[in-house]
Amino acid sequence: MRIDKLLADAGYGTRSELKKALKKGVVYVDEQQVKDPKTRVNPNQRITFKGIQVHYQEHVYLMLNKPKGVISATKDRVHQTVIDLIAKEWGHMDVFPIGRLDKDTEGLLLLTTDGGFSHDLMSPKKHVRKTYRALVEGSVTEEDIASFRQGVKLADGYVTKTAQLKVEKVDEKQSIITVEITEGKYHQVKRMFEAVGKRVIELERLQIGGLKLDQTLKRGEFRELSEEEIECTKNG
Ligand code: URA
Repeated sequence: MRIDKLLADAGYGTRSELKKALKKGVVYVDEQQVKDPKTRVNPNQRITFKGIQVHYQEHVYLMLNKPKGVISATKDRVHQTVIDLIAKEWGHMDVFPIGRLDKDTEGLLLLTTDGGFSHDLMSPKKHVRKTYRALVEGSVTEEDIASFRQGVKLADGYVTKTAQLKVEKVDEKQSIITVEITEGKYHQVKRMFEAVGKRVIELERLQIGGLKLDQTLKRGEFRELSEEEIECTKNG
């Protein structure tokens, strides 16, 4: 690929800024000064910019601890988006969220530039597990657990696939539960509880495939996934 494209993708500036930087002689490829922006390079070569080694990566894979009030979209004219949260560091790459969490849902959201990775996680054929924790109005019962296991009929008539519902804490007013589903229908968890006559007050995603939300990330914080995490997300 062209050196100016590689450096632009790696976040070193716009093509026109890089043209000027290259002209100044601050870029070296395998110890050779490169001034022509059209020079073709291989990302495995040793490339330095102002003496610092450039780490080029084709794709980025991020885990975000999504806060409430932020939209899972690349653009929104009114609300802050998940892309706004990562833009300072990754705005130079075409990062997009993998699927959606509702505006008021928190927790694990993955973002990437890799369309294939996203497709594999989103494909209904792959049945990727997603685990949520919710605060639910009312007492979740053994009957609800059985209904979720069997599949519940949503308001639009769709019958959900089997879901594992576990109660962590319950009193007569509210319940804290975890639920594992293998689908990603619109408002799925909230609608499943509506189907059994209950209301989700708060919702947080904890896990996708084999990947758990890093509990050291505060709401709104993000980090890159490790190689192992990318693999275990696909294979989990
Ligand atoms: N189910 C929901 O109802 N909302 C989400 O954001 C995710 C799953």
